Amino acid sequence: MNKPADLPTNVSEVHGSTFSGASNGDLTADSAVAATIECRDLYKTFSEGSLLVEVLKGINISIHAGEQVAIMGSSGSGKSTLLHLLGGLDSSTSGEVYIQGKKMSALGETDRGQLRNQYLGFVYQFHHLLPEFTAVENVGMPLLIRGEAPKLVIEKAKEILNKVGLGSRFQHKPAELSGGERQRTAIARALVTDPVCVLADEPTGNLDNKTAHVIYELMLSLNKGQGTSIIMVTHDSELASHMERIHVLENGVLHPA
Ligand SMILES: Nc1ncnc2c1ncn2[C@@H]1O[C@H](COP(=O)(O)OP(=O)(O)O)[C@@H](O)[C@H]1O
Ligand SMILES: [Mg+2]
Repeated sequence: MNKPADLPTNVSEVHGSTFSGASNGDLTADSAVAATIECRDLYKTFSEGSLLVEVLKGINISIHAGEQVAIMGSSGSGKSTLLHLLGGLDSSTSGEVYIQGKKMSALGETDRGQLRNQYLGFVYQFHHLLPEFTAVENVGMPLLIRGEAPKLVIEKAKEILNKVGLGSRFQHKPAELSGGERQRTAIARALVTDPVCVLADEPTGNLDNKTAHVIYELMLSLNKGQGTSIIMVTHDSELASHMERIHVLENGVLHPA
């Protein structure tokens, strides 16, 4: 398996870590009772030429250990934008995000990447698998970035791929997998590090009902078995109805469904 040094340049973006410099921060939580993820008065404005698009206009939410939260809202309402901010993948225009009690705006890019790698698993709306790597290599990547030994990484990647029903697809590259298999691989990659929180952006959006249900059950069993928090963006109200909390993003603010 390739070492981190061989990885393409977009790996840090996809896997949430650069590890290119020494961390100078203490990444343990500021408070023993910190929420897993919390944001306060979060605003995000994009500028397109001279046009300013205010997408988020004061979001407040706390997600605690083991909670399941669904985020719904129409297309373009800002769900992906919010999830990226909560996962520390993008920065807000104003307001703060805290992950395990750590204020993200106070950290440099290296520490933010390390915090994401340590605590979070992110399932992108479009799987973001690396096309030139096999399923095992894609899934093992966050562990390699952590510096774990390649032999152990392969073992762990295979174990989680077995759990998502891809035991016969270890050596397949993304182009050789079906849409559902790619999405399951992306989910395995998010789970392989045993994150405290999984953020999933319409993980079942492009899947048939049966596959969507399998993926949903998988995430739920993780939530029940290991107390992993789940923040899931979904259009599927049936699926959302099984989550503990449902919030709707509308006109830049979140409200309970
Ligand atoms: N990087 C960006 N630059 C400019 N506008 C953006 C960017 N990302 C998202 N937007 C805009 O923000 C709005 C919300 O997008 P998004 O968060 O992807 O919505 P959703 O996930 O709810 O469909 C859209 O109007 C989109 O065009
Ligand atoms: Mg989206």
